[in-house]
Amino acid sequence: MCGIVGYIGDGKAKEIIIDGLKRLEYRGYDSAGIALCIDGKIETRKHVGGIENLEKIIDDKEYESNIGIGHTRWATHGAPSDVNAHPHNNEDNTVTVVHNGIIENYTELKEALIKEHGIKFRSETDSEVIAQLIGVLYDGDLHEAVNNAVKKMRGAYAIGVVCAHEPDNIIAVRKDAPLVAGIGKGCNFIASDIPALLKYVREIFLIENNETIVVTKNEIKIYDENGQTVKRDVFHVTWDADAAEKGGYPHFMLKEIHEQPKGLEDTLLRRLDKDGRIKLDGITMTKKDIESFNKIYIVACGTAYHAGLVGKYTIEKMARIPVEVDIASEFRYRDSFVDENTLFIAISQSGETLDTLAALREAKRKGARILSVVNVVGSSVARESDDVFYTWAGPEIAVASTKAYTTQLMCMYLIGLYMGYTKGVVDNEYYKAMLEELKAIPDKLRLVLKNESLISDLADRFYHREQIFFIGRGPDSGVSYEGSLKLKEISYINSFAIAAGELKHGTIALMEKGSLVFALSTQDALFEKMISNIEEIKARGAYVIGITKEGNKEIEKQSDESIYIPDCPDELTPLLTVVPLQVFSYYVAKNRGCNIDKPKNLAKSVTVE
Ligand code: AGP
Repeated sequence: MCGIVGYIGDGKAKEIIIDGLKRLEYRGYDSAGIALCIDGKIETRKHVGGIENLEKIIDDKEYESNIGIGHTRWATHGAPSDVNAHPHNNEDNTVTVVHNGIIENYTELKEALIKEHGIKFRSETDSEVIAQLIGVLYDGDLHEAVNNAVKKMRGAYAIGVVCAHEPDNIIAVRKDAPLVAGIGKGCNFIASDIPALLKYVREIFLIENNETIVVTKNEIKIYDENGQTVKRDVFHVTWDADAAEKGGYPHFMLKEIHEQPKGLEDTLLRRLDKDGRIKLDGITMTKKDIESFNKIYIVACGTAYHAGLVGKYTIEKMARIPVEVDIASEFRYRDSFVDENTLFIAISQSGETLDTLAALREAKRKGARILSVVNVVGSSVARESDDVFYTWAGPEIAVASTKAYTTQLMCMYLIGLYMGYTKGVVDNEYYKAMLEELKAIPDKLRLVLKNESLISDLADRFYHREQIFFIGRGPDSGVSYEGSLKLKEISYINSFAIAAGELKHGTIALMEKGSLVFALSTQDALFEKMISNIEEIKARGAYVIGITKEGNKEIEKQSDESIYIPDCPDELTPLLTVVPLQVFSYYVAKNRGCNIDKPKNLAKSVTVE
């Protein structure tokens, strides 16, 4: 969740690093800092708060260099403060480090450094331990000192290191936290995330786990954990810089809500061959593999988990295989029934969520086949999977996930159809009909988005509410959870989602005059039950906003207001019903003056436990 940028070359390191850090602001942070090598010394400056605070204390001409590292911190050990901000130095300020992740054994390392070397620590952070450790191990070769230090460290980390004695290189190491290297002309870069470098380079090295890189202005050398040099193909970044900008919208979130039709088209159409059949290039799973699966686990966090809730209905119906959906942080500590006949599907927008990555590793250890649904090419989850099913949503910058979610749903449908058809449990007629319906979804989504002003009017009337409920049955219940999370995380309203059938088992006690309830009701087979639920809560004074398919007048009769989505097969309604809830959350948060793209307490990628 922290941002790292490093530069070495003929240019002005300070300006380039600060610009790069600003492009990583969306990752969430509470302090920022920079260290430059100047005349054989390391000058470190850092400040709690936004990058603008840092810019104030580096605004002098003398503070310039051609090599440096910068950091935006998301506190894990030690409160946000100047002294806890990165970069961190060793005692004599000859070694400085930026770090993303957590050093699990930092306490024992710190105690040993104090006891054996009399080190006086300045901060409460685990990151400073890295700088002090490298400092005591340094004996004229920074690369060697870093290698020896990481051998003692346990945990997840990406680090960048510079040394006053060696102002011609930057060393960086990756273990379970993202790291890339940018290939420039007469200069090179390190970063925790590609957007930091987009303004300067298009050619990138994706650094693998347990690799170390030695970066000079003319060369980037990659070493594996045994110290052997590694040949790595150059990854060409196709994103244009604008894709990471707001493109005219007031917030990334609204831009990304409107990008959903295109994201769905990209995710679907690239996977249909000329005969309109699903072709999953890059997926090596064979018919034999598919026939060998007797259970599927879908494991993820947050919004990605909610995509899994819908995926359960989809894949069970289409592939006829039992599906268990689990929250990653729960799965990894449960003695699950994973074995070699299990397909483990990890869903992750960032591909760096540590809980999801750890759950994936647990399933792999038990012999499962790993398929991941990921939005970031080359991310950790992707690299550790047997097969990767990319969502082509493009970079998702807003912390609240929208286009990643709907493209994750699209992947659930394609996986279900592909597996069902391969197994012969989906007939050709249903297969083709469903693909045609999926192709029609993006335009139907565009129609839903045409009602944006109706939804914003709704938000104008209800944005002051302190509690809002979301209910549904079947796939609609999964979407209810996602709608509630969207509202919660950007407007800070205490929203609440529950499967409608569960209301009578306790939650209905909360219903009182004026309780605001969104009732999702798109499943024909569950329609009567939903009508009963709506009647139950209305009898207790609730104000019900029904979300249903066009033409469903019964809901209109029962609800106080109705939101309609274009007709489509029941299986596919989640692709459409979630969008009015996204838009509603956006405008409620806007009316409440919340920081929509960077909500308080949240980060875009949770790379710590
Ligand atoms: C989504 O709106 C949230 N910001 C959060 O729940 C997110 O979905 C979760 O942290 C998982 O992230 P991932 O998809 O990158 O793994």
